[in-house]
Amino acid sequence: MTEVIDGKAVAADIRESLAACIATLDDEGVEPGLATVLMSDDPASETYVSMKQRDCEEVGIDGIHVEIDPDAPAAELYDTIDELNADPTVNGILVQMPVPEHVDERRVLRRIDPVKDVDGFHPENVGRLVAGNDRYRPCTPHGIQKLLEAYEIETESADAVIVGRSNIVGKPLANLLLQKADDGNATVTVCHSRTEDLTEKARNADILVAAVGLAEIIDAEMVTDGTTVIDVGVNRVDADTEKGYELVGDVDYDAVAEVAGAITPVPGGVGPMTRAMLLYNTVKAAGLQHD
Ligand code: GUN
Repeated sequence: MTEVIDGKAVAADIRESLAACIATLDDEGVEPGLATVLMSDDPASETYVSMKQRDCEEVGIDGIHVEIDPDAPAAELYDTIDELNADPTVNGILVQMPVPEHVDERRVLRRIDPVKDVDGFHPENVGRLVAGNDRYRPCTPHGIQKLLEAYEIETESADAVIVGRSNIVGKPLANLLLQKADDGNATVTVCHSRTEDLTEKARNADILVAAVGLAEIIDAEMVTDGTTVIDVGVNRVDADTEKGYELVGDVDYDAVAEVAGAITPVPGGVGPMTRAMLLYNTVKAAGLQHD
């Protein structure tokens, strides 16, 4: 029987243990603070940011939200980051990506104080992660590690195949699974749009992670019996629903669930874990900044 990996339940457990940490910090007079910055009118980005703010409120993190007109000059975003860097009540800063085209994304990431970079995207934090000395693990890869741990899916000596080479998911996850660590020690293959024989490579996986952003491209042919399939994709496809669309993953769920050993659903798999690990990094940031 295929095991359905319940990201909502694991995320709820993580939030519960974070609430306990937050209560301890509170006794020491510390209230973790997270600033989210949105410079976009993309409805999906707006939804993600408002969910992050709601999560903060639920666990006792002080949430601050800043909205910048997407047509405003880039300097407005840089100035906002400078102010948040200097604000001692703000422990974590998250600038929702993507930013408008006239804004240099790399410059934005470099501008955030690396100790407040709860996304883990600043070059200093990327370098630390690659070197095996991470400060903040990027939220989605870390959430995937926590899901594997919760379901006792061993990464030690496993063949992990990651489809997708983004800076947000594919590359950091590959580095984390490679580390000499209990939640690493995997043999990692990273596939992408130029990969030849994707099916053959995917079929070799003990753990297959789909993170390309293409609706249902992972089909049953690409999965062998017993493989753990982790679906990071959230794709809007036209559908006869109230909203006119539905959300599907990068995996053809119904077909792949017939063969996989364990599988994450969309929604309710990786998504809630990404959100929980942002709270985790914010609590960690508050601890680091008050030591
Ligand atoms: N856009 C999509 N995913 C993410 C994320 O994890 N962090 C930020 N800042 N923007 C995103």
